[in-house]
Amino acid sequence: MKQLRIQLKMNSYNIFIEDDILNHLSFYIKEVYSNKKIYIVTDDIVGKLYLEAVKKSLKEYEIESVVIPHGEASKSIDMYTTVIKELLDKDIRRNELLLALGGGVIGDLTGFVASTLYRGLPYVSVPTSLLSQMDSSIGGKTGIDFYERKNILGCFKQPKLVLIDPKVLSTLSKREWNNGMGELIKHAAIGNKKLFGMLKHKPDIDEEIIYQSLSVKQAVVEKDEFDTKERMLLNFGHTFGHAIELKLGLKHGEAVALGMLMVLRFGIDLGLTDEVCYKELKEIIKLYDLPYDEPNYKEYLLEIAKDKKNLAGKIQMVLLSSIGKAFLYPVEEKHLKELI
Ligand SMILES: NC(=O)c1ccc[n+]([C@@H]2O[C@H](COP(=O)([O-])OP(=O)(O)OC[C@H]3O[C@@H](n4cnc5c(N)ncnc54)[C@H](O)[C@@H]3O)[C@@H](O)[C@H]2O)c1
Ligand SMILES: [Zn+2]
Repeated sequence: MKQLRIQLKMNSYNIFIEDDILNHLSFYIKEVYSNKKIYIVTDDIVGKLYLEAVKKSLKEYEIESVVIPHGEASKSIDMYTTVIKELLDKDIRRNELLLALGGGVIGDLTGFVASTLYRGLPYVSVPTSLLSQMDSSIGGKTGIDFYERKNILGCFKQPKLVLIDPKVLSTLSKREWNNGMGELIKHAAIGNKKLFGMLKHKPDIDEEIIYQSLSVKQAVVEKDEFDTKERMLLNFGHTFGHAIELKLGLKHGEAVALGMLMVLRFGIDLGLTDEVCYKELKEIIKLYDLPYDEPNYKEYLLEIAKDKKNLAGKIQMVLLSSIGKAFLYPVEEKHLKELI
């Protein structure tokens, strides 16, 4: 078993990473919650695989569950209201607990419900995809997509507890696996040289690897809970990644893998990044069978300048000085055009 604690000014919380934790969830939940009823939100795929086991492990509680369709389309305002209506129909009260059982979609949506229903309910996260286990389940970002923009409605709301069972990863599809692997490699590259070294041996993704990956996110979240400075380092590979994701029909993590190589090339051309760093990263990306033949970043610079997610006037590029050491490199929008 591995344990982490996210230490914030308010609302600090624990993360437990343990094989088969799914079978004894109440052991941990009773430390943070003393009422009788728990409302599980999950999707149809995860629900079919794990809802019964989860209910069994929470047998001292009265359980209600809301099962929604899987996939990003469920991070919508319609699904948000559907879930809330179902919870109200099941008579949820202000001090009762929500439990998010699923990947990042379930985590983001349930967290958003938890932050708004009755102006805030407690929630526990039980992430089941690789991406949610090694990344999205901590940090407190919740939200939904709206008006064709991802994560545009949302807020910061920390969970009471995060319980991670690496064993459930055995049922993930190859593409979902890739999706998480891209981000896991990113965490190693920006802040954990030791993890990067471990990944070279292609280990099983177990408690230790998830712990090492989460510790990178923990460090930046603790320094910058509301994403104004250090936390932006997590965007390594994302500026170019976002530009190519839809265009090339890639999963997010696959686009991030290519995006990391594109921004390193950008860094090399500006004399800020070492070629060795690029080569090392490419080797790892290849090893995990992710796309590694990156497009020329110059073709995407203009598009990046138009990306509405950027702060007005400036683009914060994330670069590496060496493996495990990332830094922010602000570029004025107008200077991007000169680089082409
Ligand atoms: N809040 C944050 O900090 C943060 C960070 C990164 C990404 N995100 C969000 O996370 C979402 C993506 O998360 P995701 O990749 O987990 O997507 P997801 O929740 O859609 O899960 C991917 C697929 O895998 C299935 N699945 C999940 N666990 C499984 C298991 N153990 N076995 C078999 N199938 C399983 C799901 O049913 C789904 O079909 C995006 O909406 C993204 O915006 C949030
Ligand atoms: Zn990402």
